[in-house]
Amino acid sequence: MRAREGMTVLQAAREAGIEIPTLCYHEEMEPYGACRVCVVEVERGGRSRTVAPCCYPAEEGLKVRTRTPKIDRVRKTILELAAVTAGEDVGGRSGHWPTTTGRTSPASPP
Ligand code: FES
Repeated sequence: MRAREGMTVLQAAREAGIEIPTLCYHEEMEPYGACRVCVVEVERGGRSRTVAPCCYPAEEGLKVRTRTPKIDRVRKTILELAAVTAGEDVGGRSGHWPTTTGRTSPASPP
């Protein structure tokens, strides 16, 4: 994958047609890396770590993995936490349902 100076890993990936999911990123706003849904693994000098590619600068020789079992687990956990925080339950298992709707479950009428 090629990148121009000043590009982030996310921008370089998108230009190369590589899909990385995002939630808080918008191309017309300054990235701030809040949600971490975009998480990828980067490797440099034999050392790897997870980073938010929407904020991480693309560098020469950087190895980037956009999809691994570890990344999938991290993204799943982040999305589940976001859903619970928003008052929604992914899959309806926790019993938390937004009280502002007047519903006690996804199936009950308001
Ligand atoms: S898209 Fe939210 S941290 Fe990158």
